[in-house]
Amino acid sequence: MNYLEKIFGLNGKVAVVTGGGRGIGQVIACGLAQAGAEIAILSRSGADNTLEMIDERGGSGYYIKTDVTEEDEVERAMEKIIDRSGSMDIVFNNAGICMHQDTLDATAEEFRKVIDVNLTGEFIVAQAAIRIMLANGIQGSIINMASMSGSIANVPQWQVSYNASKAGVIHMTRSLAAEFAETGIRINSLSPGYIATPMSADTPKELRDAWMPLIPMHRMGKPEELIPAVLYLVSDQAGYTSGSDIVIDGGYTCI
Ligand SMILES: NC(=O)c1ccc[n+]([C@@H]2O[C@H](COP(=O)([O-])OP(=O)(O)OC[C@H]3O[C@@H](n4cnc5c(N)ncnc54)[C@H](O)[C@@H]3O)[C@@H](O)[C@H]2O)c1
Repeated sequence: MNYLEKIFGLNGKVAVVTGGGRGIGQVIACGLAQAGAEIAILSRSGADNTLEMIDERGGSGYYIKTDVTEEDEVERAMEKIIDRSGSMDIVFNNAGICMHQDTLDATAEEFRKVIDVNLTGEFIVAQAAIRIMLANGIQGSIINMASMSGSIANVPQWQVSYNASKAGVIHMTRSLAAEFAETGIRINSLSPGYIATPMSADTPKELRDAWMPLIPMHRMGKPEELIPAVLYLVSDQAGYTSGSDIVIDGGYTCI
C-alpha cells in the first residue's frame, strides 16, 4: 500500500451518496468507490449509469430508490444499508434541486419545494445517518452539499429559494457539528461554484455566458475537481475538521 492509499484509502468503509444517479453525486460516488468504499446510492430517479461506472472502475455499489424528503423512505433505506453492508461510515448528502425565477414571480409553494429538498431533505438524511452511526458506535463523516450560493447571491439569474436553502445548509452543518462533536461524528459542508453538470446545463446559455467574466478562472469547474476535498473530509486525516465549509469555486467568492 502506498502513502496516499494509506492516508486516503477507504477499503472496508461504506459510503452513502444521495442524488448519485448523475452530476456531482455520480462523480463523487465513483471517486469514493475508487478509493475503496462500497457505495449505496440513494436517489429518486435510478442510478444504472453510476453503478456501471463504479463497476468499470473495479468498485462495488448498489441503489436504493429513495426520496430524501420522505423520512420513512430515508429511514428504511438506512436500515437496509446496515443490514446489507454492516456499516455506514460516510454520507455524501448531495441530492438537490434549483429553481431560477424572479422573486415577484415565485410562489410560496415553489419556495417551500426548494427548501424541502435542499435543506429539510439534507436534515432528514443527516439525522437518520447520525441515529444509525450512534446506534452502531460508528464515528462517521457526513458531508452536506452546500454551494457558494449560500454566501453570495448569483447574478444574473435570480434564485432566492436556492440561495436561502444553501445558506441554511452551511449553518445547519455548523449546528450539527457542534452538537455531535463529542460523539466523534464529523459533519462538514462543501460549497462549489459553477460546476458542469446536468443541473447547470439546464440554465439557459445566455445566463451561463454571463457567468464567465464573473469567475476569476473564466471557466466552470469539473465535478472531478471536488473529489480530493471529499476524500480529505472523509479521511482520518480530517479528524480535527468539523463544522467547516470548503469552498471550491474558481475564485468566484474572492471578488
Ligand atoms: N452544478 C453546480 O454548479 C452546483 C454548484 C454548487 C452546488 N451544487 C449542488 O450539488 C448537488 C448536486 O448538483 P448537480 O449539479 O449534480 O445536480 P443534478 O441535477 O445533476 O443532480 C441532482 C441529483 O439529485 C437527485 N434528487 C433531486 N431531488 C431528490 C430527492 N427529493 N430525493 C432524492 N434524490 C433527489 C436527482 O435525481 C439527481 O440525481 C446539489 O445539491 C446542488 O445544489 C451544484
